[in-house]
Amino acid sequence: MEKIVIEGGRRLEGALPISGAKNAALPLMCAGLLTKGGLTLHNLPHLADIKTLASLLTELGSKISYDEEGWDIGSGQTVTIAAQNITSTTAPYDIVRKMRASILVLGPLLAREGEAIVSLPGGCAIGNRPIDLHLKAFEDIGATIELKDGYVRASGKLTGGTVHFATVSVGATENILMAACLADGSTIIENAAKEPEITDLANCLVAMGAKISGIGTSRLEVTGVSELHTTEYSVMPDRIEAGSYAVAAAMTGGELELLGNDLPFVMTGTLEILKQAGLVFNETDRGLLIRLGSEKIKGINAVTQPFPGFPTDMQAQLMAMMTMCDGASVITETIFENRFMHVPELCRMGADITVNGSSATIRGIGKLLGAQVMATDLRASMSLVLAGLAADGVTDVNRIYHLDRGYERLVQKLGSCGAKISREQADSI
Ligand code: UD1
Repeated sequence: MEKIVIEGGRRLEGALPISGAKNAALPLMCAGLLTKGGLTLHNLPHLADIKTLASLLTELGSKISYDEEGWDIGSGQTVTIAAQNITSTTAPYDIVRKMRASILVLGPLLAREGEAIVSLPGGCAIGNRPIDLHLKAFEDIGATIELKDGYVRASGKLTGGTVHFATVSVGATENILMAACLADGSTIIENAAKEPEITDLANCLVAMGAKISGIGTSRLEVTGVSELHTTEYSVMPDRIEAGSYAVAAAMTGGELELLGNDLPFVMTGTLEILKQAGLVFNETDRGLLIRLGSEKIKGINAVTQPFPGFPTDMQAQLMAMMTMCDGASVITETIFENRFMHVPELCRMGADITVNGSSATIRGIGKLLGAQVMATDLRASMSLVLAGLAADGVTDVNRIYHLDRGYERLVQKLGSCGAKISREQADSI
């Protein structure tokens, strides 16, 4: 197993290409199951989760081809998903347990084949994460759902209908949106999630021939069509990767130009809070230039919310930054329970954090100190990398397979902006 070793205290400066968004890429790949014609996706990030999903799509009968020629630090890969024949409608436990987003094959398989059998994802490090909202919505548009032996079996001809989500769910909105495109009728999705990754998915589906209105709002209307056709689509930039590097710029007293389209819009909730913390942003013709505008990071009060609010996927990174704030900060997590597992690790680096239910109070300290740390989920791991970049001394971040799931070329990207960071062999932990 490998670890990331960081010698902290170096100012980061330079231009950082932002990769294609993992959370947009995964549903887009699943949308490839909706057409016999093949879907070509550009700007897909090189990440472990993309490979895991590709292996699931292959298992279902898709042929996946990659164009990886000459990719460098700033270029994504082009992947074609050719699902002319679906040979299996079962997503097995072994793959679904590795990656919860595998549940997103349910909608496309059901819509196209009239049946999908998908392993229940089970618990995960950041909470219980049930799929009840997905299942109820499929029933609302005509499916029959059975749960047996740890699997969901969804079947039936989709007729469309009205879906009203009691809670905003990104994955459930995506799943039902994909299925509704091939339903035999119209579907209205109320209280839909509005995350930019959903807009990206909807725009791709429209390019494939789907009829969707209300894109970008919480009320989506889908008129089913009999088939979707081939298209090419380019994945949006990763707003969470971009937000993480914005935090890196501030924590190291540096200045980074994040390269990507539409960053001010897709990062809106993040930028709002970072601005309150004293960061300044200037739009450039290539992206967004970010630095700390005040002498010290200012204390903030942040609450995680669905888009356009402050994203839960930035909560751990923000907390790492607030360990250095002037005074104190409060961060409240409203989306997932049990998403403060980075707290004890940050405290091992000298942070002063108290958790009370779903809120954490962070009192700023002068300097973080390097330490041996490890995290149990992707964003928590990134918070430790960020802390390591700013800390005095050396930080070893263990269990880096989490980072490989979500941060493309992390070491190379940070290294190119002046960080002293490397991957090394770890003692087994
Ligand atoms: C997606 C993102 C994840 C992000 C999250 C919230 C992907 C691949 N993952 O996850 O990075 O942190 O959105 O922005 O895009 N819930 C239920 N029942 C359900 C579904 C969800 O109770 O059937 C709850 C969840 O437990 C959670 C909340 O709804 O408390 C929001 O979860 P959801 O938006 O569905 O997250 P994901 O789609 O899993």
